[in-house]
Parts: sequence; structure tokens; C-alpha cells
Amino acid sequence: MTAAGTGAFGFTGEVVIVTGAAMGIGAGIAQVLAEAGATVVIADRVLDTARATAAALVAAGHAASAVHIDMADEASITRAVADVVARHGTLWGLVNNAGIQDRQLLLDGTAEEWDRVNAVNSRGVFLASREAARAMVAGGAGGRIVHVASAALIGSLVKGHAVYAASKAALVGLMRASALELAEHAITVNMVLPGGVATPGAIHAQGPTPDGPARRRPPLGMCEPRDIGAAVLYFASPMARCVTNQSFAVDGGWSVT
Ligand SMILES: NC(=O)c1ccc[n+]([C@@H]2O[C@H](COP(=O)([O-])OP(=O)(O)OC[C@H]3O[C@@H](n4cnc5c(N)ncnc54)[C@H](O)[C@@H]3O)[C@@H](O)[C@H]2O)c1
Repeated sequence: MTAAGTGAFGFTGEVVIVTGAAMGIGAGIAQVLAEAGATVVIADRVLDTARATAAALVAAGHAASAVHIDMADEASITRAVADVVARHGTLWGLVNNAGIQDRQLLLDGTAEEWDRVNAVNSRGVFLASREAARAMVAGGAGGRIVHVASAALIGSLVKGHAVYAASKAALVGLMRASALELAEHAITVNMVLPGGVATPGAIHAQGPTPDGPARRRPPLGMCEPRDIGAAVLYFASPMARCVTNQSFAVDGGWSVT
């Protein structure tokens, strides 16, 4: 474990919201950030689990708390960010991790599924980024926004990802536009693209049986939530002040197979 604030990518208590961090990849991201000295806010629509995840970090000697957020609900997003700012007086980072990864073949595609997935994966990320950026600009100390997209943006890995991949592709445009607008406030916007990670959401995703290139084992093995956290740590750290509008795949080497 890196002592708080002493590593190259260490924090000195900066406040970082991680959405969807009650479990899965988000919990791994929160753990890595907390170990590096960040004050982590576990933001999730399942508040009991978010509280338990935060309590485990606190029990391990880290700074963490929980807040309820529903990324499909604008009022909930606005309230959650305001709660965090009221609690801590400041906001350094937002990690947009919460996402729906159910599958639906294009030939069976429905507008309802498009709306349901995009409400969280793209619209919710847009709204959370707006709220966090407003708080960061008001704070005047810069900040970090990191989107968790998917290696599906590099190449389709599983059949049934038309809606999902499109929802994540929207984050590329959001990143480019917001990186330009927020640079003058010393706020960076970057993106991590995970490959397959055996999380509750991936294992229990609804839709047709997984089929496609993702059935191949990645040459470096399956990634763990902490592996995604390591890449997020870099982008979220104060050290990465000169990096914006960048994507970083953490896919176990899938892209070379
Ligand atoms: N697991 C993978 O293989 C994989 C691969 C590529 C990208 N991703 C992306 O990584 C992110 C995390 O995935 P995961 O596998 O850990 O998922 P998961 O389903 O295991 O966990 C997601 C977390 O987000 C929360 N959440 C879901 N909808 C929410 C909402 N509307 N508001 C607030 N919180 C909500 C859930 O309660 C849960 O705690 C997602 O954006 C996903 O698309 C995952």
C-alpha cells in the first residue's frame, strides 16, 4: 500500500466521487484511490452497499463516505454532488464509472433499451460531469474527470453491444468537447477503457449468451477491478496535470490478439 500522499501519484486528501462504486470495478477504483490518499465518496443507487463499501475503506484506515445517486435521474445527480460539496467544501475529482452493460442484438433492438441504457451510460455521465465541473470551477483549484467507457470502443468484443457500445462512444465526444472547455480551469477529462472484468454486472448481464472475440482469454489474463483503478489513479492524480482528452485501454492485451 502506498502511504497517503507520498507516492508519485499520491493525493493529500483531495475529494473524489466514484459513481457505481458500491461493487465491481467502481469499488476497485475507490480502493486504489483511497490507498493513494484520496478522500473517496462512494456514490451509488444502492446506498446500503455503498455505505458498507465506504465503511470497509474507513476500517482499513482510509478516508471514505457514501452518497446516494441515481445516474438516470437529473435531480438525484444534482443533489448528490451538492451534498458532497456541502460535506467537504470542495471537489477535486469525478470518476464516471456507473453503467449498464446488458446485451441486445441489433435485430431485436428496441428504443426502450436504447433509452434505458443511455439514460445512465451517456446522459447520466453528461449531467454528472456538468455538476462536478461547476463545483470544480467554483472551487478554483482545478480538477479531474475520468470516464469509464469500454474496450468495445476499440473493437466489438461481444455480440449484443450495439446500444451499449453506442452509449460508451458518446463519452468520446463528451470527453473531447469538455476537455477543450475545461482546460482553462485546469480541469482535465480523460477516459479508461476496460476489457472484460468478472464483476456482478458482467456476470449477470441480461441478453443473449456472450459470443464473440471476448470469449478469447486475453494474453495477460483477466483484469481485476484494481487494474482499472490503477489507470484511473493516474488520470485522477494531481500529478497528471498535463494530460487531457486521452483514452487508455486496460484490457489484458486483447487488442493484440
Ligand atoms: N465488467 C466488465 O467487463 C466491463 C468491461 C468494460 C466496461 N465496463 C464498465 O465499467 C463500469 C462498471 O462496471 P461493473 O462491471 O463494475 O458493473 P457492476 O454492475 O458490477 O457494478 C455497477 C455499479 O453501478 C451501480 N449503478 C448501476 N446503475 C446505477 C445508477 N443508475 N446510478 C447509480 N449507480 C448505479 C450499481 O449499483 C453497482 O454498484 C460500467 O460503466 C461498465 O460499462 C465493465
